[in-house]
Amino acid sequence: MALAPKPAARPPDLTTTRAPFIEEARAHGEIYIIDQPYELYSDENQATWGRLLERMHDPWARYANRRFLEGMEKLQLSAARIPHLDDINRFMQPLTGFRARAVSGYVPSYVFFDCLRRREFPTTVTIRDGERLEYLPEPDIFHDVAGHVPMHTDQAFAAALVRFGTCAAAAAQRAAAVRDQRERLHRLTSNIRAMSRFFWFSVEFGLMRHAPGDGDGALKVYGSGLLSSFGEIANAIDGPDVERRPFEIGEVVNQPFDIDHYQPRLYVVDSFDHLFALVSELERWMLEGKLDDVAMGEPNVSEADLASFLSYSEP
Ligand SMILES: [Fe+2]
Repeated sequence: MALAPKPAARPPDLTTTRAPFIEEARAHGEIYIIDQPYELYSDENQATWGRLLERMHDPWARYANRRFLEGMEKLQLSAARIPHLDDINRFMQPLTGFRARAVSGYVPSYVFFDCLRRREFPTTVTIRDGERLEYLPEPDIFHDVAGHVPMHTDQAFAAALVRFGTCAAAAAQRAAAVRDQRERLHRLTSNIRAMSRFFWFSVEFGLMRHAPGDGDGALKVYGSGLLSSFGEIANAIDGPDVERRPFEIGEVVNQPFDIDHYQPRLYVVDSFDHLFALVSELERWMLEGKLDDVAMGEPNVSEADLASFLSYSEP
């Protein structure tokens, strides 16, 4: 009996969730920081990058905030090829000290925030499947490099990111001082949830009202989740069903979010100095115990997230 021919094996590449290099890095314990294995990008991966970048030009011109557009102008990302992180860093580090560090995937929350404190941005190196440009259950290099990195060329925004890192360090330090283990875990879970929600509704999905004199008073997008989404960026500004509210810490830290749908509610800041002041305020709230009982719900705080905070040691 003749056997049916096997389908041709896919050559290894760096498509998200199908990249053997990443699995091998994990198997060898290199869970976080890796090298960007540039030679593994296939022609298809490169073409996907080009399509993603080119289709965002018009939405960015219309909806992105000025700082992002200036950052994009400085970085000069090319649709012809996926960027080398080393090239980006040579350019970006002198501007704000930030650099993109290649990671193998999910990074536990304390490790992530602590990277920000050191002006390092954990950056995914895989790229989404070219057949499903919109479907994005996890970050990829387009989200991380085209959505986040242009913002890191701005001093005020970079300072706000570092502030998230110091806030996380303060949360870890505070948790370490709680003797009762149940109480320590309860507070820490709530603190992590609050910080994650704040980060989500600002760095990932934030809107900004440009001040008169720094634009035309228009509402623009600065959140990277929106900046890397062809469908959602327009909806965030023009969608009739989106509620756009002033960024109030007490509301944001108690607001669960759903990563699988367009966000029905978004929060607006005035400037990146305003964002910096809000993160500083978040840390004060945390130290005063005002983030110890935030509303239950998404995001889930995993064992790995908790363990990462509990293994904190004095910087
Ligand atoms: Fe992101």
